[in-house]
Amino acid sequence: MTNDKHLIFLSFFLAFILIVACRQAPKNSQYISQKVATSDKAMVVAAHPLAVKVGLDILAQGGNAIDAIVGVQFALAVVYPRAGNIGGGGFMLYDEKGKQTTALDFREKAPFGATKNMYLDSLGNPITGLSTKGALASGVPGSVDGLLQALEKYGKLKDRQLVMQGAIDLASNGFAISQNEADRLNKYASDFKTLNNFDFPFVKDGDWKKGDLLKQSLLAKTLQKIQDEGRKGFYEGDCAAAIIQTMADNKGIIVQRDLTRYQAKWKTPIQFSFRGYDISSMPLPSSGGIVLQQILKILEPLPLDSLGFQTAESIHLISEAERSAYENRATYLGDSDFYNVPVELLLSEEYITSMRDGIDREKAQKSNAETVAPSQTLESFQTTHTSIIDEQGNSASLTTTLNSNYGSKLYVREAGFFLNNEMDDFSVKPGVPNTYGLIGAKANEIAPEKRMLSSMTPTIVKKDGEPYLVLGAPGGSTIITAVLQVLLNKTVYGQNLEEAVNACRTHHQWLPDRILLEEGCLSVEARNALKAKGHQLEETKYMAIIKAIHRDADGRLTGVGDPRNPDDHAQGL
Ligand code: DON
Repeated sequence: MTNDKHLIFLSFFLAFILIVACRQAPKNSQYISQKVATSDKAMVVAAHPLAVKVGLDILAQGGNAIDAIVGVQFALAVVYPRAGNIGGGGFMLYDEKGKQTTALDFREKAPFGATKNMYLDSLGNPITGLSTKGALASGVPGSVDGLLQALEKYGKLKDRQLVMQGAIDLASNGFAISQNEADRLNKYASDFKTLNNFDFPFVKDGDWKKGDLLKQSLLAKTLQKIQDEGRKGFYEGDCAAAIIQTMADNKGIIVQRDLTRYQAKWKTPIQFSFRGYDISSMPLPSSGGIVLQQILKILEPLPLDSLGFQTAESIHLISEAERSAYENRATYLGDSDFYNVPVELLLSEEYITSMRDGIDREKAQKSNAETVAPSQTLESFQTTHTSIIDEQGNSASLTTTLNSNYGSKLYVREAGFFLNNEMDDFSVKPGVPNTYGLIGAKANEIAPEKRMLSSMTPTIVKKDGEPYLVLGAPGGSTIITAVLQVLLNKTVYGQNLEEAVNACRTHHQWLPDRILLEEGCLSVEARNALKAKGHQLEETKYMAIIKAIHRDADGRLTGVGDPRNPDDHAQGL
């Protein structure tokens, strides 16, 4: 080869390498997740660094916590598709500085065609998988209406063009997936193929690997429609037609009327004080606020501090309070727009005192119900939470989900997203446990347009009128107890936020009647003492994934993502 030819060859070779490299690793692939961050200005903590970046960019352009959290949620629908979504729903708490904290319920609802016994066979037994996979498992999605209502009501910029562009770019250019995402996609590959008889971006020949490019052009188009047209871009027109077609092809029951009538609802949060802290959390149809209040109020006068952190005595009291509150959850809680839930009574001092008096300091109670829920291991990476505090001191706390990983696994082919399997959060039959081992009663039975009971617990804690802690988590039934433990770790045990989030967790949910422990949690002595009090213990790998921000008395913010999710990311402005 002459020198010239050599050079030409070399240039072509280098150009080829560059093109291949660019295809495999778009610019946005250079992300590293960071679990702890501090800032004097603003903080975003979410389940993926690329989504956090979208939020920070919006804040940097003058957006407030709501503009940013809406941008983060649309981005999570792209980069964290197991839980970030436009095909699901969720809950948000917002505390605008100097104003009342408000709650937004954008939970999915049962379609008009839903009936109480829709998941039972002719003998009245639940049909396996019907409420968890495929078209019948889906509730009517609420995320798009919820996010847009939040933007419209409380956003500073209120600019769909600005807040959604980050998500649209990520969907149309693609992004390099993390190891965590690759593992999840491989795990569900056969479900994706069985439930969807066509090619779509989540199926590929061979295994997914870290760094593979995930491009979602049809999702980009749908997001663009929403950006241009607002809620109509999702609940009407092409996207709605694609959802209805998916339903028609798969014996589902969501129809245009369901989509047209979907409305997120603004609500008054559950609010109470705990040892000088003012706590706001989610009202029904999430059980989060009520159960959290009951447990904390039972524990408030008890000497947890002197009994010590994670001793048998303190874990016994916490577990017994949890047992009692989760029994209430199963018995009385459901969508209060459809069922008369005695909320005031359940949260009254008298009632909570009687719950406390029912606890024996020495012995575990027994949880009695006719059906005993099976033990199950909870490895919780589905669902996702975002916490934000902005420069003005506004805080937003939002939990959203498709329920299971990638929801029903049913993909809306023409519109580019997964639909939820949230119908499983209803009580499909009294006493029959759902995916999280939770049972329910009449209060949470299925009815058209009713919202299924949730455990999502987006929470904002204030001290002396200033934000103190913004937090929440995924984790099914363990969400509430994880939020509880981080709160106790900070307010009772004086841990810093990182210690409070990282500390191992325990959980009792009435049924199954056992304390669930993260692997290796509690000393051998504490375990033996708990067993001697009559507790059953069962280990699981992980419980819930907290994303939290703490603001100290000087206004300094610390954001913490949970080491339990490799992709969790905290970053300040
Ligand atoms: O609303 C609920 O309580 C459940 N659908 C949440 C699911 C969840 O957190 C899954 N993640 N582990």
